[in-house]
Amino acid sequence: MSELLSIEDISVTYGNIKALRNVSMHVNQGDIVCLIGANGSGKSTLLKAIVGQEPLVEGSITFDGEEICQSRNAAGSGSKWGRMKSRKGLTTDLIASRGIALVPEGRRVFADMSVEENLDMGAFMVRDKALIAERKEAMYDFFPILGARRRQKTRSLSGGEQQMMAIARALMSAPRLILLDEPGLGLAPLVISDIFEKIDLINKQDNVTVFLVEQNARMALKASKEGYVMENGRIVLHDASASLLENEKVRAAYLGE
Ligand SMILES: Nc1ncnc2c1ncn2[C@@H]1O[C@H](COP(=O)(O)OP(=O)(O)OP(=O)(O)O)[C@@H](O)[C@H]1O
Ligand SMILES: [Mg+2]
Repeated sequence: MSELLSIEDISVTYGNIKALRNVSMHVNQGDIVCLIGANGSGKSTLLKAIVGQEPLVEGSITFDGEEICQSRNAAGSGSKWGRMKSRKGLTTDLIASRGIALVPEGRRVFADMSVEENLDMGAFMVRDKALIAERKEAMYDFFPILGARRRQKTRSLSGGEQQMMAIARALMSAPRLILLDEPGLGLAPLVISDIFEKIDLINKQDNVTVFLVEQNARMALKASKEGYVMENGRIVLHDASASLLENEKVRAAYLGE
């Protein structure tokens, strides 16, 4: 199994707050890997760091053998200009073009745009109009509810439909790795099940590697092969998801048992 994403010893700060402390994680090609943790533990910060939205103060991130993010203090940045740069590594757009798509927390859909226009935004890097049209049709087949609502303003969709649209928008760039930030947030259990079923199909049928962040630990661990547990910006556990489901600490702290 080849390694697709490699996070090596990264730290991220917000002013004096150290949001991530020497985090290392590895995601193999084709897997579903999850990260669970309480509110404020640093999960969203980690996803933002992967797509270049938050600079690293330590460590580096490699995707498919290419270093996409490195810390400000990394070797080679010793010059005055190097130190003044706010971040090092590829820009967010370039990281997206390498094949990583983020579905952000709270979905962040363009509420005044139609479903179709939102999907177009997801394909901003694709020049070929025929290819964009083909991918949109594939999304409407995969999420029939979006096909039925394609001309409707996104604000009129239910929370679950908006989440599906946010996922479809990310898939429009045909990513190799999709990062999902709490796809189940604020949704009813049945809707969450639908969304997790889709995530599984995206992984199995389209061979997209999935990195899933969730507070709903049970759903996330059941859906994934491997899991990481984060507390206060640190990884405190890493194991096969099936083992984490049986782990006493995980059961007490995250599964309410
Ligand atoms: N833009 C920011 N400025 C300052 N502090 C921030 C910022 N974003 C996050 N933080 C802080 O960093 C820590 C980690 O936040 P983060 O959003 O990554 O946590 P999370 O695990 O995603 O939480 P949640 O489950 O609530 O989404 C928290 O203490 C948070 O208050
Ligand atoms: Mg978060």
